[in-house]
Amino acid sequence: MPTALITGVTGQAGSYLAELLHRKGYRVVGMHRRTSTPTTGRIAHLLEQIEIAQGDLHDQLSLIDALKQYQPDEIYNLAAQSFVPTSWNQPVLTAEATALGVTRMLEAVRAVDPSVRFYQASSSEMFGKVREVPQTESTPFHPRSPYGVAKTYGHFITVNYRESYDLFACSGILFNHESPRRGLEFVTRKVSHAAASIKLEVQDTVGLGNLEASRDWGFAGDYVEAMWLMLQHDSPGDYVVATGTAHTVREMCEIAFGHVGLDFEDHVVSDPNMVRPAEVEHLIGDASKARNVLGWQPRVGFKELIEMMVDADLELIERTSRNET
Ligand code: NAP
Ligand code: GDD
Repeated sequence: MPTALITGVTGQAGSYLAELLHRKGYRVVGMHRRTSTPTTGRIAHLLEQIEIAQGDLHDQLSLIDALKQYQPDEIYNLAAQSFVPTSWNQPVLTAEATALGVTRMLEAVRAVDPSVRFYQASSSEMFGKVREVPQTESTPFHPRSPYGVAKTYGHFITVNYRESYDLFACSGILFNHESPRRGLEFVTRKVSHAAASIKLEVQDTVGLGNLEASRDWGFAGDYVEAMWLMLQHDSPGDYVVATGTAHTVREMCEIAFGHVGLDFEDHVVSDPNMVRPAEVEHLIGDASKARNVLGWQPRVGFKELIEMMVDADLELIERTSRNET
């Protein structure tokens, strides 16, 4: 039974990856940082099946200890400060976790077991002010936020450790992936939750920033399969993971509100605080390499994804209003 260590297991993608690897028969170890209140809500249903290792990307020794104790065959480094707006407020913390945290994980691999297979959660935010459309593995990067800059460092340090030390280190350049488990501040979930709340008369409006920004949005459950496939391949590499279709925030609002019989124009108001100092206007990925080399393809389409999120939020709000957990 192979052992997988997932950093960021309490996050959106970490929870789907833990489910996938457990289904595949892995011994799954999730790395979790110490917090004053529990953050294990997304993996509550898995806590009997997986093991939890305490560790923090800011603390080198905790990573080395986790590797020594659990001796993983595969490491999926998903932990990061992942919310783009926060990276302008906390650029140094973002660089510590999202950039230098990658080096600390790679150093732990080198120190404990260089034969470990390593996955780094890189991001389409690295393309930023895009140089070509659609974006591929060879499109140059032009990040537009401290988060994007930190992820670009994380990507290149992964490539560098592969080239310098012959590590089996892969970088997955993933475009936006969403689900009912998405954090509430990200735009898809903010809108799905608002559409459900407004339908159930819990609130009346929602404030959004740039409605014309467009993203290549896919389903997180599909994208974790690509992560696993990268580490099963004969040789390490870098892969774009995307659907190849893009939609604006406005189109996403139309679908979400339309699904509950509402017109988004009656409820979406402009919130200048949500406008970013430097915006990524348009992202769309070409995942031909992942399709041809790994045999990966997305299953859930955009409309189905947004409707799934709205349905889950309707159920969540109704359950909460009945005081159930
Ligand atoms: P997420 O929901 O924000 O989860 C982030 C995870 O990182 C959480 O488990 C968080 O723990 C953990 N974490 C943060 N700082 C840490 C630290 N210093 N030490 C240890 N753990 C720490 O993110 P996600 O959407 O699942 O994304 C997973 C990864 O993929 C991230 O690296 C993200 O940047 C990257 N990515 C995401 C997307 C996307 O569209 N979702 C696209 C491309 C790349 P707590 O629960 O304690 O906060
Ligand atoms: N969050 C948010 N809130 N975004 C808004 C809002 C709002 O009220 N109104 C408009 N937007 C626009 C943002 O300006 C951005 O262009 C787009 O919606 C998507 O924003 P997010 O959902 O916050 O995601 P992101 O694209 O910035 O970053 C996500 O995807 C990256 C991959 O490209 C995160 O998951 C990153 O961690 C990930 O790397």
